[in-house]
Amino acid sequence: MKLRTIENLDVRGKYVLLRDDFNVQIVDGKITDAFRIEQSMPTINMLRNAGARVAIVAHRGRPKGERNMEFTLSPIAEFMGIKLIPDCLDKDFLEQMQDGDVVLLENVRFYEGEEKNDPTFAADLARGFDLFVNDAFAVSHRAHASTVGVAEILPSYVGTLLASEIEHLAQVMENPKRPLLSIVAGSKVSTKIGVLKALAKLSDTLIVGGALGTTFNYALGAKVGDSLYEANQKDVALEILEFAKQNNCQVLLPIDKGVAKTFAPDAARTDKEYKDFDDDDIIIDAGKLTTERDVAAIKSAATVIWNGTVGMAEWMPTWSYGSFALANAIAEQTRAGKLESIVGGGDTVAALQACGVKGDITYVSTGGGAFLEFVEGRTLPGIAILENAE
Ligand code: 3PG
Repeated sequence: MKLRTIENLDVRGKYVLLRDDFNVQIVDGKITDAFRIEQSMPTINMLRNAGARVAIVAHRGRPKGERNMEFTLSPIAEFMGIKLIPDCLDKDFLEQMQDGDVVLLENVRFYEGEEKNDPTFAADLARGFDLFVNDAFAVSHRAHASTVGVAEILPSYVGTLLASEIEHLAQVMENPKRPLLSIVAGSKVSTKIGVLKALAKLSDTLIVGGALGTTFNYALGAKVGDSLYEANQKDVALEILEFAKQNNCQVLLPIDKGVAKTFAPDAARTDKEYKDFDDDDIIIDAGKLTTERDVAAIKSAATVIWNGTVGMAEWMPTWSYGSFALANAIAEQTRAGKLESIVGGGDTVAALQACGVKGDITYVSTGGGAFLEFVEGRTLPGIAILENAE
């Protein structure tokens, strides 16, 4: 993949439109996880130190083309200590900019033209800038005006975060150290069919956990109580199991689960095998036997790719048990130099963070949907357009 990076680029005095992904969770005006912002800082600092005049374009949430201040980027500008330009199409501020200045443009999704990749909107956004840098891996699976449209207009480059994401993820997909263990969990089979198939093809072992695992067990005839699962994905689950078999990939499904009678953080936990489920049992976490087996699988792997928590990891400590055990085992093996670990997805990264082991992982992706699509081998439009950039 040939991409033009910003290293050695003479940007002094140039107006740079920089796409970052600052789609972070904000509770009561405070950023709860600044990972995406922190990972974006090397490119911002590189451009700033090189004397560029940088306007960052970013989105938050899905305001559907309306100026909904629930999704303002103001807390992010405040967190970064930079000025917020209240309208992303405003150009007046450009005249006042000095070399090394950085500003943040208000949520680009306040305009309908963004998600539609409307050419007129893209041209308005690009106007006044000399070049475009995409550093927003996490939104590069969207063909929007601020990822694709502007790259068709301005000379375009890849930022250091985007370049690093591509390098690390491509390396593990193309040439993984074996045995390769993939762990895919979360709630919906329907959103993960592609990635499950891709990983079943690539991996030696595939753990399917969380509600995803429940759907697979349901497809095989297990009792699931009153738990979350997708009855209409039964055939898909069976097809994926068959596909894995044909590709010599061993699939590990949950053996037992942590269950309760109510779906609540403080609900009393019992660990049960599927055959012992009552009709009113609600699955909230992976069970102890399953976790023990999965930790053993991690210990015999040379590479682990992990996406999706195996339970309600944010309901600590009762229901974070399974996810935290995986996070700690992956971190421990990586620290010991026995494992290469790749982790992606907001909830999964939050679990690493909560365990204090994020820094131990070989590579933590900033991507959620983009991570899944990349791993699936799909072309990400925001990256593809940069490959052909002049
Ligand atoms: C993400 O959070 O995964 C990206 O910012 C993309 O957001 P979207 O799914 O709303 O396009």
